[in-house]
Amino acid sequence: MTAQPLLSVRNLRTVFGTMQGDVTAVDDVSFDVSPGEVLGIVGESGSGKSVTALSIMGLLPQPPGRVAGGEILFQGRDLLKMPKSELRQLRGSAIGMIFQEPMTSLNPVFTIGDQITETIRVHERIGAAAARTRGIEMLARVGIPSPERRIDDFPHQLSGGMRQRVMIAMALSCSPKLLLADEPTTALDVTIQAQILDLLRDLQRELGMAIVIITHNMGVIAEFADRVAVMYAGRIAEEGTVDRIFDAPSHPYTVGLLSSTPDMLAEVPRLRTIPGALPSLYELPPGCRFAPRCARRIETCDAGRPAMLDLAPGHRAACIRATEGAAP
Ligand SMILES: Nc1ncnc2c1ncn2[C@@H]1O[C@H](COP(=O)(O)OP(=O)(O)OP(=O)(O)O)[C@@H](O)[C@H]1O
Ligand code: SF4
Ligand SMILES: [Mg+2]
Repeated sequence: MTAQPLLSVRNLRTVFGTMQGDVTAVDDVSFDVSPGEVLGIVGESGSGKSVTALSIMGLLPQPPGRVAGGEILFQGRDLLKMPKSELRQLRGSAIGMIFQEPMTSLNPVFTIGDQITETIRVHERIGAAAARTRGIEMLARVGIPSPERRIDDFPHQLSGGMRQRVMIAMALSCSPKLLLADEPTTALDVTIQAQILDLLRDLQRELGMAIVIITHNMGVIAEFADRVAVMYAGRIAEEGTVDRIFDAPSHPYTVGLLSSTPDMLAEVPRLRTIPGALPSLYELPPGCRFAPRCARRIETCDAGRPAMLDLAPGHRAACIRATEGAAP
């Protein structure tokens, strides 16, 4: 892809200070997102997906979290060096975010209308009536029936799927160029999940927005993403187009994830079928972090961090055996 990336994450390192010392939850992670592109980030629970998203948004809980290295370039500007006020302005306008559980992001004591118009008015100089009209339009756009009535509901009066639609309406109300969606459908049942993904896909095409979607579910990636980055223990294990990753997965961890994926968009797998568990960030293996669980492990795997090997344009994997052909 030749277009200048919209988002370019370079060697990101995010650390948490804990009682037992610092742990590096995101360790030298780099990836690009082009305008209008959908990048999926997939990996087991604890692999550093949310910490990556929170680092990009400047929303890490500080302390204990901090970005200890790297760059996060958005339209060529480093968000890590941007004044806080400017970053706040960017959030919700050029960059939107939706989280897994809308009840944690919607305030229970205010109506949907209060919250959506507030979001719009923080970023645009328009009056209350105009913001309300826009809010109703946005609710209609995300498929909420009778939006002119629903706008006066409180969050608890809506179903989980409807609340997630409201979150999407809020995130999209200022037409962001980039949407970070962290497990946007995991809390919902399978049918609603598929509807919300269809909706996001339609809006993404209509608005030409780029999306980073974080998920446990390879089925969601297959349906939704153009490219995928597979994370393991704070690092990227493999990255490539969805076609390449599904046709020629080269990191044994990716192979494990794919073989543990049931039907597309079926019940969300917690990806527990790969034997063993993610290593503790306090006791990381000296070489490849996947080594304790890897069927292809050889002695050299423990010698040091496996380099990223280029396998095809845009396809790379951090496995010393990645060029040997199909992993078992
Ligand atoms: N507030 C915190 N304090 C200390 N460590 C933290 C904190 N938040 C995250 N971490 C560390 O960062 C690691 C990665 O967490 P993260 O939330 O990014 O995982 P994830 O990939 O999003 O997992 P999930 O799929 O469960 O959402 C955790 O395993 C934990 O060790
Ligand atoms: S580097 Fe070695 S241990 Fe790590 S994934 Fe590749 S083969 Fe397995
Ligand atoms: Mg998470």
